[in-house]
Amino acid sequence: MTASDPIEIFLSGTPGLEPLLRDEAQEQGFRNPQVVPGGVTLAGDWAEVWRANLVLRGPGRVLARVARFRAMHLAQLDKRSRKVAWTKLLRPDVPYRVEATCKKSRIYHAGAAAQRVQTAIEDALGRSPTEKAMLVVRVRLEDDLCEISLDTSGAPLHRRGHKQAVGKAPMRETLAALFLRACGYDGTQPLVDPMCGSGTFVIEAAERALGLAPGRARDFGFEHLASFDAARWTDVRDQVPPSQSTQTRCYGFDRDAGAIANAVANADRAGVSAITRFAHQAVADLQPPDGPPGLVLTNPPYGARIGNRKLLFALYGTFGTVMAERFKGWRVGIVTSDKGLARATGLKFRSVSAPIPHGGLKVQLFQTGPL
Ligand SMILES: C[S@@+](CC[C@H](N)C(=O)[O-])C[C@H]1O[C@@H](n2cnc3c(N)ncnc32)[C@H](O)[C@@H]1O
Repeated sequence: MTASDPIEIFLSGTPGLEPLLRDEAQEQGFRNPQVVPGGVTLAGDWAEVWRANLVLRGPGRVLARVARFRAMHLAQLDKRSRKVAWTKLLRPDVPYRVEATCKKSRIYHAGAAAQRVQTAIEDALGRSPTEKAMLVVRVRLEDDLCEISLDTSGAPLHRRGHKQAVGKAPMRETLAALFLRACGYDGTQPLVDPMCGSGTFVIEAAERALGLAPGRARDFGFEHLASFDAARWTDVRDQVPPSQSTQTRCYGFDRDAGAIANAVANADRAGVSAITRFAHQAVADLQPPDGPPGLVLTNPPYGARIGNRKLLFALYGTFGTVMAERFKGWRVGIVTSDKGLARATGLKFRSVSAPIPHGGLKVQLFQTGPL
C-alpha cells in the first residue's frame, strides 16, 4: 500500500454536529465530504488521512476503511476477513488490538466477532494482539454488513498534545471547536469566555485566529502503519500554511484561581499566549475588552445537585444581566444541559442546537444575535 492508494476516510464526530464537521472538511479542501450518522465520509488516499488528522479541529478520530463485506455468520466473517491484505496494512513489529460492535445483525456477539478478525490478522502477521495496544482495528457489524477500519489517530484527537492541566468538567477540544464553528467564529473577532475553566474555548479560538494546525504537537497512530512514509508525511506537514499574525485577542476569566493558572499554562504550551489574556475574576465583575464587539462563548456550571440549583439560577441571572448591560453588539453562546438555567439569563436566543452528548449529559448551544 502506498500513500496514494485510494481509501475511504471516516471522520467520527459528535452526533448532532456532523454538518459542521462536513463544512470544516470542505473548507480544508477534502474531496466529497458526506454526512452520515455519527460522522463524515471523505474520498482520499493515505496522505489525506494524515492531513485530516493534522488539520481538522472537529473529528474525534479519523478512520481508514479497509474492508466492507456481508457477514451473516461467524464462519463467513472469518473467511472474508482473511481476504484483507493485512500485511500491507499492519506491521508485524507494532502491537495492535481489535474492537468490535454489533448492531441489528445475525452476528450479535461482539467478542466473538473481534476474535474472528483477530485470528485472521494473527495468522497473516504472525503476531498476537496486545490488550492495551494504541493501534486499534475497528470492526463494525450493522444490518449484517461488516466494515473494518483502522483507527489512524491513536489517542483521540481532542488530545491536542499541549493540555496537561485540566480542572473539573473540561470541554473536549473537538467539541469546543465545533461549537465555535456553530457560532460562526472564524478567528477574526475577539472571544471572551467568562467561566473558562482550563481555557478550552479561549485556546481553540486563539489557535483558529493564528491559523495553527490542531495536530501540530502530537503523534498519530498512522505513523505505525505499513502505509506510512515519513518523507511524504513531512511534505504534508510542510504544506500546511504557516501561522499568521493577527490582531484578534481571546480572553478567559474564572473565579477559581487554580483554573486560571491551568489555563495560562495550557495556553503557553499551545504557543498562543501572545494573543490570549486570562484573569482571576467573577462574572459579576466582567467588563468587555476594548475594541470591537465579538463573541462571548461559555460553558457555565450545570448538572449540579438540587441544593445548588438555586445558586446556579443566580449565576446565570447575573451572567445575563452583565451581558445585556455591558456587552452591546456582542453575540453570546451558552453551552448547558439545563434549559431552565439558559432561560434564567433573560437573554433572547436566536437559535438553540439539538441536544449533543457530552460527559454523560446532553448539552445544547443557546445563541443570541448581536445584543
Ligand atoms: C463547566 S466549567 C467550564 C469548563 C471549561 N469550558 C473547560 O473546558 O475547562 C465552569 C467554570 O465556571 C467557573 N465559575 C463558576 N461560577 C463562576 C463565577 N461566578 N464567575 C466566574 N467563573 C465561575 C468554575 O470555576 C468553572 O471553572
